[in-house]
Amino acid sequence: MAGAALVGLALAACGGGTDDGGTPEAGGGGGGEVEVFTWWAAGSEKAGLDALVGAFDEQHPDVTFVNGAVAGGAGSAAKDLLQTRLQAQDPPDTFQAHAGAELQDYIDAAQIEDVSALYDEFGLTDAFPADLLDRLSTEDGAIYSIPSNIHRANVVWANPTVLEDNGVDPEATYEDLDAWMADLDKLKAAGVTPLSVATTWTQVHLLETVLLANLGPEAYTGLWDGSTDWAGADVTASLEDFEKLMSYTNTDRDGLDWPEATQMVIDGNAAFNVMGDWAVAAFEEQDKKLGADFTAFPVPGTDGTFDFLADSFTLPVGAPNPDGAKAWLETVGSLEGQVAFNKAKGSIPARTDADPADFSEYQQTAIESFGSDTIVSSLAHGAATPVATLNAVSDATSKFTTGASDLATYQQELAAAVQG
Ligand code: GAL
Repeated sequence: MAGAALVGLALAACGGGTDDGGTPEAGGGGGGEVEVFTWWAAGSEKAGLDALVGAFDEQHPDVTFVNGAVAGGAGSAAKDLLQTRLQAQDPPDTFQAHAGAELQDYIDAAQIEDVSALYDEFGLTDAFPADLLDRLSTEDGAIYSIPSNIHRANVVWANPTVLEDNGVDPEATYEDLDAWMADLDKLKAAGVTPLSVATTWTQVHLLETVLLANLGPEAYTGLWDGSTDWAGADVTASLEDFEKLMSYTNTDRDGLDWPEATQMVIDGNAAFNVMGDWAVAAFEEQDKKLGADFTAFPVPGTDGTFDFLADSFTLPVGAPNPDGAKAWLETVGSLEGQVAFNKAKGSIPARTDADPADFSEYQQTAIESFGSDTIVSSLAHGAATPVATLNAVSDATSKFTTGASDLATYQQELAAAVQG
C-alpha cells in the first residue's frame, strides 16, 4: 500500500460546499482555469464530459473549464502522456483515474494528494458505497480521489435484426461460452461478422470476460491476488476460448477503437460486441431503443457477476490551480453532477442517493445488478492491476492476436506479466 510521504498541501476550505449532498452554492474555486485531463475526447464519451461541464459551469461560474482530453479508449494513449507530464512536474489541475490498483500507482508515486478533507467539506463521507471508497483509499483510511461513476465491463451488445435475419433467435439466452459460440458459428456460416472487436485494449477487455466466464468470480479474483495459478488448465481453456472468439471477429480490428466496433453492431455490420456499458450511450445517442434496436446481456457464463470499474478524479501534487481542481471535484461528487454525467455516459452514479427513475432502462438494470451481483475488478480498466501489469498483459495479447506468439507462449507471458 501507499505509505509514500506526500507533500502536504493545505486543503483550505474553498467554500460552496454543503453537507447534505445537495446543491453546492454557485461560486467557490477562486476563479481561473481548471485543466481537466480525461480520455473522453469524442462521441458519447465527450457528451458525458460535456454534461458534467454543464453542471460545473452552473455550480462554479467563476472557474473556466479547460478540456485536456486525449483521445484513445480506456486511456490507451492518455495514461502514457499523463505519466510523462507528471514526471516532468507538469500536472494538469485534475485527471481521470480508475478506482483500484491504477489509483494506487499514483498514490505510491506520491503524484496525487489525499483529498479526505474534501469529503468532509463537501459532505461526501456517506455518499458512496463503502466498498468503492476502499478502492480509493489507503489502508490507513486516507482517500485519494472522488468517483464520478461506475461502469460494468461484462456486457454483450447485440443487433436483433442481424440475428433474426441469419437464423439466430434474438431472445436466446446462453448458459456458457460454448452455447454462445454455437450461434457464432451459425452467423459465420451465414457470412456476417459474428463478433466485433477493436484494437488491443478491447481484446484485453474481451479476454477478461472470458476468464471470468470460465473461472467464475472467485478464481477470477484469484488471478490478481496470487491464489489462482496462471499456468493452470482453467486458464489454458480460457485462452483457447479467447482464441476461438477472436476467430469470429473483424480482421480490421487493430485499426479501430471501441466506437467503431460498437458501431458495427449499431449499423447491422456485426451481430455482437463485448464492451463496457459506455456502449449504451452510443446506442442511445443514435436513438436506438433497447429491446427493439439492440439488446444487452451479461457475457455468457458471467450472469450474476458485475465486472466493475469506476472513474474518479484526483488532485495532483503541484496542480497549478488547486482551488479550481477542488471546485471540479465538488461538482464531480455532487448529486447534480453525477446525474447529469451518468445519464449521458451510460454508467451509473457512484453516489447511492440518485433516483434510478432518472436513468435509462439499461442503466436501471445495471443499478440493480450492482446492488445484488458479486462484484469483481476489471483488468482492462485499472481496477485489478497496476498500469505496468496491464501494459505487459496488453503487449502479450497483441503478440498473440497478431500471430506473433502461440497459445503456450501467451499463457507464459500472461503469467509473467501478472506474477512478475
Ligand atoms: C474506460 C473508462 C470509461 C470509458 C472507457 C472507454 O477505461 O473508465 O469511462 O471511457 O474506458 O474509453
